[in-house]
Amino acid sequence: MHQGDAYLTAHREEHLKQLMELLRIPSISALSEHKADVRRAAEWLAREMRRIGLHRVEVMETGGHPVVHAERMDCPGGPKALIYGHYDVQPVDPVDLWTTPPFEPTIRDGKLYARGASDDKGQVFMHLKVIEALLAVEGRLPVNVKLLIEGEEESGSENLERFVSAHADLLKADVVVISDTALYARGVPSLTYALRGLAALEVHVVGAKGDLHSGAFGGAAPNAAQALARLLATLHRPDGAVAVEGFYDQVRPLSQEERDSFAALQFDEQAFMADLGVTALPGEPGYTALERLWARPTLEINGIFGGFQGEGTKTVIPCRAGAKITCRLVPDQDPERVLDAVEAHLKAHCPPGVKVEVRRGGGAPAVITPIDHPAIQAAMQALTEAYGAEARFIRSGGSIPVVGTFQRVLGAPIVMMGFSLEEENFHAPDEHFHLENFDAGMRALYRFWHHLAENMR
Ligand code: BES
Ligand code: MN
Ligand code: MN
Repeated sequence: MHQGDAYLTAHREEHLKQLMELLRIPSISALSEHKADVRRAAEWLAREMRRIGLHRVEVMETGGHPVVHAERMDCPGGPKALIYGHYDVQPVDPVDLWTTPPFEPTIRDGKLYARGASDDKGQVFMHLKVIEALLAVEGRLPVNVKLLIEGEEESGSENLERFVSAHADLLKADVVVISDTALYARGVPSLTYALRGLAALEVHVVGAKGDLHSGAFGGAAPNAAQALARLLATLHRPDGAVAVEGFYDQVRPLSQEERDSFAALQFDEQAFMADLGVTALPGEPGYTALERLWARPTLEINGIFGGFQGEGTKTVIPCRAGAKITCRLVPDQDPERVLDAVEAHLKAHCPPGVKVEVRRGGGAPAVITPIDHPAIQAAMQALTEAYGAEARFIRSGGSIPVVGTFQRVLGAPIVMMGFSLEEENFHAPDEHFHLENFDAGMRALYRFWHHLAENMR
């Protein structure tokens, strides 16, 4: 038996106990009442990194939540890899929908249930255990590694871009390795070579100087909630395409080759619909669901607010209403240009009698990495061996905001070797991680470092 596999198997119970300790820390980055918990998770990681033999371990300030940095650079001539991940997690509401409490990790049915189990504490932890295993079994790492584990990914990595630019030398690497994406499906080893980007904004509609009695004023005074509904309805065409002028201008078209490679995955739209409990998959015409999920931009209304929400009836004309909107972006869209286009559209379609205010939020570009790079090939080899099935190339519809910054500042290829599954409820109640991928994933990462050393010397 492979010596690394044997070590990981022998220490499995101990590893799971340690991971559960990390999962018990409620490091929710978006909620200020958890600020101290977020730091506690960073310190837990730093302690563990020192214990397994990483060097220069430091909890570093960013202006927001801290990052944990560490390295092991004692492989002269070997490639340098930057391992990135995040130890912060999403809020847990609605908390009463969890079968067991979010910060009391529990194993049921071969799955580890806890907030952060798959996104992303579980996967960050796998990297630490693989490093520990390599050092224990072989006494050295086959490559040089740097680690950057952040605490603000789930709230947009707002301070990390500045941190990465300011510490470009410290982080300099030949390849970036990330385990924070999903496999295509259970038992299908897959490597993500593209992520979508993101652009966020809020729109507020303002009518009269205050809320009005709808008997006294209805029929003459503008209604902010109705104006908002009309305005939001202009954002998409009846066929499902985004109606914002210029929205698609910078979009890199899908090549026939890529469309063929998506088609080869035989994505089952019927099963997908059944899974979601819906009867249609609305979206931009002319593309399959998988193409729309992975390689086409979207504009989504994430929430609508305004007007009377209480029990019973209230005959009121609301004077304010608003919506939160995000766009998923694809190569080569510039988030700022997309926000310009959406802002201009909202202002140009302002219904009579109200004002439209736009509050721009953050953005992050999409990323796509070349699949013929030797580092990517090393990952494909490792995945194929560890899972005993041919690894597939996939894209992801999700976003990891800092990856575009890595690409720009470090100019390195991005190996996105993630082991979660989209059915694992990340960001939702009952988040869990299939332990089969905890095991196979570590076996893949162990092999990956060796293949990377061979392929990049
Ligand atoms: N790990 C996810 C990104 C992801 C999701 C990759 C699904 C592959 C499949 C990440 O933690 C995440 O949730 N990103 C957010 C970014 C946002 C909070 C700025 C996203 O994609 O919405
Ligand atoms: Mn994540
Ligand atoms: Mn997430």
